[in-house]
Amino acid sequence: MTGPASNEPAGYPGLVAVVTGASRGLGAGMAEAFAAAGISLGLCARTRPPVPDGAVAVSRSVDVTDAGALDRFAAEVVDALGRIDLWINNAGVVAPIGPLADADPVAVRELVDVNVLGVVHGTASFARHVRSRPGRGVLVNLSSGAATDPSEGWAPYCSSKAAVEMITAVVALEERPHGLSAYALSPGVVDTEMQVLIRATPKERFPTVGRFLQRSEEDRFNSPAWVAQYILDELVEGDPGGHGDGGPGPHDHGAPVRLRVPEPEHHSPAGPSGPGPPARPR
Ligand SMILES: NC(=O)c1ccc[n+]([C@@H]2O[C@H](COP(=O)([O-])OP(=O)(O)OC[C@H]3O[C@@H](n4cnc5c(N)ncnc54)[C@H](OP(=O)(O)O)[C@@H]3O)[C@@H](O)[C@H]2O)c1
Repeated sequence: MTGPASNEPAGYPGLVAVVTGASRGLGAGMAEAFAAAGISLGLCARTRPPVPDGAVAVSRSVDVTDAGALDRFAAEVVDALGRIDLWINNAGVVAPIGPLADADPVAVRELVDVNVLGVVHGTASFARHVRSRPGRGVLVNLSSGAATDPSEGWAPYCSSKAAVEMITAVVALEERPHGLSAYALSPGVVDTEMQVLIRATPKERFPTVGRFLQRSEEDRFNSPAWVAQYILDELVEGDPGGHGDGGPGPHDHGAPVRLRVPEPEHHSPAGPSGPGPPARPR
């Protein structure tokens, strides 16, 4: 454990968040933003994640495909930090990209192991923790527009994110009586190594690569800090799953589970493109 934080942070002191896949990209960026908001952190990836300056954190090398290792990591975070309030299954991969007919079955299996089983293991681990202690827990599973929009070259990725959304929807129903609010969150396009890999894929293997190249030319991305703020404002502070007073009952299929982080206003002349908060100048 690193810390303690020297200057008393504003925002969410006392809250504990786990972020998987926190060694780089969106996960590392969200960890920075959470630390700045005073949130204590449990961070993991295969490469041990960096601890943001001044953060109270447990950082470990964990492969999310290993259910036992994730359970041990969760127990270590609880031992060190007392409890876990927010768990973000962010670890994910996009490769292999290309027609399914040509795909290496081993590579496809590796993607499914990380994107689907990794989320299953993290979700189950957190659900057991929330059942074991009083109070609410918020689960966020990183999804993608690819869950619902088919793209040639992305059969493994699209189907893995569709699975994430259904896993999340089922667990939201199963665990709501135990205090868990579960969300599948599409973060929008965030400029990470995953995007670099996507942009480097030849058009023959990924015909819609032009869309991503154009975004990069226009520098039209959601930042990790923006995504983190959405999670805090809308999912931790807000209650879209209806867990608060007067919310829907445990078997209400209308409760929102699939959410999309809107684009900041200055990126989108027409305003935010999906459900979410009004644009905030952060
Ligand atoms: N970037 C986007 O525009 C975008 C859009 C929609 C959805 N998403 C989703 O957002 C999430 C983060 O994406 P990103 O763009 O930040 O990707 P990224 O830059 O490639 O980072 C992926 C992270 O996942 C970790 N990871 C991969 N395999 C792992 C494993 N077996 N066990 C533990 N950690 C593992 C990586 O660390 P190690 O390699 O050290 O393990 C890394 O920290 C993914 O689920 C992705 O599908 C991203």
